[in-house]
Amino acid sequence: MKVRKAVIPAAGLGTRMLPATKTVPKEMLPLVDKPAIQYIIEEAAAAGIEDILIVTNRAKSAMDDYFDYYPELETRLNQGGKDRELTEIRRVADLANIFYVRQKETKGLGHAIWRAKRFVGDEPFAVLLGDDVMRSDKPVIGQLIEAAEKYEASAVGVQQVGLDVIGKYCSVKTEALEERIFGVSDLVEKPRPEQVFSNYAILGRYVLSPGVFDVLENLEPGYGGEIQLTDGLSKLCRMEKMVAVDFEGRRYDTGNLKGFLEATIDFALEHPETGEWLQDFLRKKGKEL
Ligand code: UTP
Repeated sequence: MKVRKAVIPAAGLGTRMLPATKTVPKEMLPLVDKPAIQYIIEEAAAAGIEDILIVTNRAKSAMDDYFDYYPELETRLNQGGKDRELTEIRRVADLANIFYVRQKETKGLGHAIWRAKRFVGDEPFAVLLGDDVMRSDKPVIGQLIEAAEKYEASAVGVQQVGLDVIGKYCSVKTEALEERIFGVSDLVEKPRPEQVFSNYAILGRYVLSPGVFDVLENLEPGYGGEIQLTDGLSKLCRMEKMVAVDFEGRRYDTGNLKGFLEATIDFALEHPETGEWLQDFLRKKGKEL
């Protein structure tokens, strides 16, 4: 079945980016000239997704406003002949049909996804985490959708990480199916060294079967007292087919300070207005250090 819908959980408290995220949602912090959430919506739209649900909370209404029209500003830009800016803010508002639902209590990623049950209905859907921004030639979520459709399975996006850091991620038990695609028979969140299945870690992108909702509904709180998506997926992969896609692209965790700065620098180096200037600046800085 075709994947037409996406869910972006963005209701986390962003405690790793405080104090900035006390009143500004971390998904709205700019990576050069666009908020992080825009890159994610653009990735979904480029993969052919038309309907997107953002899971938010009471402190995140800046996101709803961002993807809305803003007539006063548009009139002003029009009168001032600022055509480029006008076209861009309209393009942003028209990227996709965006829906919102609130996660009324911060009970974990699994709980946030469960809030999408009514929106999704009975079809497979994409999940893009609100703070994982990807850089790739082909949209990462599109790579997963292709595999999910081919194998008629759920799909998780993975990449290899060092064995010294796998304990911070979800480790996947993999069986090779074809180049870059594996069958998944088990997975474990934040494994202790003796629990590690492989150094393939899940990194922020999923295509899930609607069967996940029944699993999430009956899940006990796990790590950190939260309803963990990966606990649900470890059940799901025993009940239904699941594949892992070793996706092509670079992932930035913009929900922590170092990942946020890496993304900012890399994106600014590629940006036509800042690229050359930043190269010069970094060269000078390098000599000073
Ligand atoms: P994170 O753990 O990276 O986000 O959750 P967080 O909870 O905001 O981060 P810190 O640790 O406090 O800094 C992964 C994704 O799941 C969402 C987050 O918004 C992020 O996209 N999430 C997490 C929810 O939507 N609801 C939750 O209850 C928890």
